Amino acid sequence: MNNTKTNPTKNQTQTACIRTFGCQMNVHDSDRMRRMLIEAGYEEVERYEDADLVILNTCYVRENAVDRVRGHLGELNRLKREGKVKKVALTGCIGAAEEGGELKEQYGIDLVLGTHNTYELASFIGLPNMEETFTPDLPGMKGQHSAFVTIMTGCNYQCSYCIVPTVRGRMICRPLENVLGEVKELVESGTKYITLLGQTVDAWRQKGLRFCDLLERVSEIAPRVWFTTSHPSNMEDRTLELIGRKDNIVKRLHLPVQSGSDRMLKMMHRGYKAERYRRKIEVFRENVPDGTLSTDIIAGHPGETEEDHQRTLELVEDCGFDAAYIFKFSPRRGTEAAEMPGRVPEEVVQRRFLEILRAVEGNALKRNREKIGAEEEIYIRHPRGEDGIAIGETWSGHAVHVETDASPGEYVRARVNSAGPHVLYAEEI
Ligand code: 5AD
Ligand code: SF4
Repeated sequence: MNNTKTNPTKNQTQTACIRTFGCQMNVHDSDRMRRMLIEAGYEEVERYEDADLVILNTCYVRENAVDRVRGHLGELNRLKREGKVKKVALTGCIGAAEEGGELKEQYGIDLVLGTHNTYELASFIGLPNMEETFTPDLPGMKGQHSAFVTIMTGCNYQCSYCIVPTVRGRMICRPLENVLGEVKELVESGTKYITLLGQTVDAWRQKGLRFCDLLERVSEIAPRVWFTTSHPSNMEDRTLELIGRKDNIVKRLHLPVQSGSDRMLKMMHRGYKAERYRRKIEVFRENVPDGTLSTDIIAGHPGETEEDHQRTLELVEDCGFDAAYIFKFSPRRGTEAAEMPGRVPEEVVQRRFLEILRAVEGNALKRNREKIGAEEEIYIRHPRGEDGIAIGETWSGHAVHVETDASPGEYVRARVNSAGPHVLYAEEI
């Protein structure tokens, strides 16, 4: 299979295409697979029709993610019949769910892997068989200006609506030495920006050490650090203080609230009340006055009344989010909420979704406009495109469009001259 070593001519090289759906964990796992493919002599291509092997690294968290994957599988089936694509692999969260097996049958997928056995891709692409390896310990890509480092996998919560504990399993905290070892290697290879990843990063614990200890240690070796996702029940004030105190931690907090109604929070098993969430935000604002705040909100969980929805709108007003990821409730097979009575009609969900969106965007726009005229140090994340605009990030975590030749990983000083709800527009000075 691996004929590149014996006959390394261009047209003999195997090609692969990876499509990533869903969250940063998947983006990160795709990088590990990319690294394996390179090791096996594959060349990465953009288009399915140029690929011998296509890997779909999938998300299962909401039904529309699955629908999208079905669309891609249909197209791949056709390309396979036409002989353009040879093999299709499906990995990630659908791979770990029952539906993975069903899709395999239905679309004749060649390989289905879950999130716990990603290492098995090795033998499939002609590398030596690998022993069972904790996915975060598989090497990722080196030499990129910014990189993710997984500190924990899985989740010990049982939120009513959520499939993550089923497909990703219970929480496993990655040992401190492994995390710091990976961060060191990355920084030595030129990485400037480390994002610590996990479903509930604040729940990380090891031998008396807590997440804030880990974050502090990482911030001592990495030039720029961020982390996601936090859970309001685990988020410690000490962590919020640390964010305020350490110059090189990006001052953005992503703290999913899901609902502003105590009744819904209870039904969702979130483990906190709206009041506790508000207090966390107060502590954040006190410690990190220039920080930005984002959240996740679900519209139309079963049983949600108009009154519950109003509580959410109030909370949005009070917290003044800079951004929110708003989701319409999506029933996931095997979760508690999928069986709950009181399904909210689609048109009601849609209206609530839009009302929340409007409230968030109104707030965000107001806050972003306050930045007009400010001079900021901007970390460049994406190089300039054809329009000459590069995409960067302030230390407070605002996304910024700026006209500059600077490369990813570099900083530019710029003045903000206008603002939208999602992005600041700045001019290099
Ligand atoms: N329906 C809608 N949104 C969901 N999320 C998770 N599961 C569901 C679901 N079944 C949202 C939550 C979570 C984010 C990653 O996705 O808001 O924080
Ligand atoms: Fe899902 Fe809740 Fe765990 Fe987040 S905390 S991954 S929403 S079960």
